[in-house]
Amino acid sequence: MAAFSVRDFYDGLAPDYHLIFRDWDASMARQAAVLDELFRRHPGPGSRRVLDCSCGIGTQAIGLALAGHKVVGSDLSPVAAGRASAEAADRGISLPVAAADMRLLPFASSGFDVVVCADNALPHLLSAQDVRAALLEMRRVLRDEGLLVLTVRAYDEDRRTRPVSAPPQVSDTPEGRVITFQLWNWHTDGERYDVEHFQIHPAADTWEVRVRRTTYWALTRRQVTALVAEAGFTDITWHTPDSTGFYQPVLTARHVRAEP
Ligand SMILES: C[S@@+](CC[C@H](N)C(=O)[O-])C[C@H]1O[C@@H](n2cnc3c(N)ncnc32)[C@H](O)[C@@H]1O
Repeated sequence: MAAFSVRDFYDGLAPDYHLIFRDWDASMARQAAVLDELFRRHPGPGSRRVLDCSCGIGTQAIGLALAGHKVVGSDLSPVAAGRASAEAADRGISLPVAAADMRLLPFASSGFDVVVCADNALPHLLSAQDVRAALLEMRRVLRDEGLLVLTVRAYDEDRRTRPVSAPPQVSDTPEGRVITFQLWNWHTDGERYDVEHFQIHPAADTWEVRVRRTTYWALTRRQVTALVAEAGFTDITWHTPDSTGFYQPVLTARHVRAEP
């Protein structure tokens, strides 16, 4: 169903990805603080074994490792995952990474206390079957009582209003300002949309425009909740941006292994 390659999109964007943040290091620290606080609400040691299965260039993984967790990163994009590991090393920490699809994780069962899938990575999967496959893999690699943490864009309103663009993000660089913005083209099903992702870089006295394309499934909260429940998680809880300070709604859920 995917018209565009998600891997190509993120391989291409990886060197520029930090430019969607005004200050990437500050965002890493802020996001890790929120996630760490959510971890602490669940029983377990202070330092958790965390898998970030859509780590990208490491926005959550590096912050969590700097906060003292034992983090492993994986991502569909080998270029993004490679950058995550290099950025971690630049900050004095080790971040083992793997290039892997979240529907087929290359990790042993029950090895992690927490699995994180953050910043709207799950909606890159365009069918219920694919989302289910990913959630079952996340459950498999979690220990009994392990914690799932998903962050997904608040799509309920978008599904009603079908916005055609997302507001620009501006980042200051030594060469000048970089502007990122998106145009959205909704599919006729009213649930999925193609993104044209523009990044405009200063280039001498003109601009260089980089355009990349990808597709999302605008999953409502109810759809995500149902799929997470179907995958066998319990205690499914949504945390709103108002209550966490995170910029997206966060879902937490627990994996409880069935009695033999
Ligand atoms: C919006 S980015 C977020 C990356 C990172 N969590 C962050 O906040 O910087 C979404 C990430 O999901 C990854 N992704 C998309 N589909 C995936 C899949 N099937 N398996 C693993 N990673 C996937 C992309 O490669 C990309 O790095």
